[in-house]
Amino acid sequence: KGKRAFIAGVADDNGYGWAIAKSLAAAGAEILVGTWVPALNIFESSLRRGKFDESRVLPDGSLMEITKIYPLDAVFDNPEDVPEDIKTNKRYAGSSKWTVQEAAESVKSDFGSIDILVHSLANGPEVLKPLLETSRKGYLAALSASSYSYVSLLKHFLPIINPGGSSISLTYIASERIIPGYGGGMSSAKAALESDTRVLAFEAGRRKGIRVNAISAGPLRSRAAKAIGFIDMMIDYSSANAPLQKELSAEEVGNTAAFLASPLASAITGGVIYVDNGLNAMGVGV
Ligand code: NAI
Repeated sequence: KGKRAFIAGVADDNGYGWAIAKSLAAAGAEILVGTWVPALNIFESSLRRGKFDESRVLPDGSLMEITKIYPLDAVFDNPEDVPEDIKTNKRYAGSSKWTVQEAAESVKSDFGSIDILVHSLANGPEVLKPLLETSRKGYLAALSASSYSYVSLLKHFLPIINPGGSSISLTYIASERIIPGYGGGMSSAKAALESDTRVLAFEAGRRKGIRVNAISAGPLRSRAAKAIGFIDMMIDYSSANAPLQKELSAEEVGNTAAFLASPLASAITGGVIYVDNGLNAMGVGV
């Protein structure tokens, strides 16, 4: 029987979440996505109007179907956490049940279970600021949206992940090497995400035999990356310096996710897998 995937962090066709959805769909999985509440309307209407049809094409010529789109804001675990200003914000007013716990409950009541959980989201309000200029609030917001959001997702979805299932998140090498420009505590957030990948692999492995891995991806011109501002420079740096001198495609990350979610990867857990044309292996620029 086909597997079912829930991919958190899809709001257009430019990011890694979309590419992962496509690779999983091409491998026969049913696709559910979680979309950030403020981006939900535009994503749904663009999808409905056919704006993404070209990028929905799968290798066999069919179009990727998204069975259901769930509103999600991964910085809130349950309704008691939601502050008044968000509750009354008009970008949130049209949606309901978008905290992590409620999203997991909705998926459970709609489908019963999933096999694959993907976290492809990050946010750091002060990403443009060097760490030395980052406020406590900005730093904690980066960790909340980009690191704890994964702990919370896995915690709430674990009870409905089938045996043999697995989970994947997306990280960046700024966690372990100095990448000037990846500020606001985002480098710290990725370091936490990678450390948590190991601990969560242990806990989810012992409890349910579920595998937990992270993909450390090279630079992609996604919406989130464009907001950081240095993405073209990072892409150029990679083509100049990586062992493989080609632009990284989102599909290459998607295909790795499909491999990691498949039985072919049945002994791989707690890992950070580089999908970056090998840039991580370089010691100096050339
Ligand atoms: P993206 O813009 O396609 O994805 C980020 C998504 O996170 C967006 O859909 C956004 O709506 C969502 N989001 C933000 N805050 C949220 C919240 N509180 N609740 C729910 N959703 C929220 O951009 P991209 O780059 O594909 O990002 C996906 C993952 O890949 C992120 O973890 C990012 O750090 C990681 N990554 C990206 C790289 C790049 O060069 N683009 C390189 C390495 C890792």
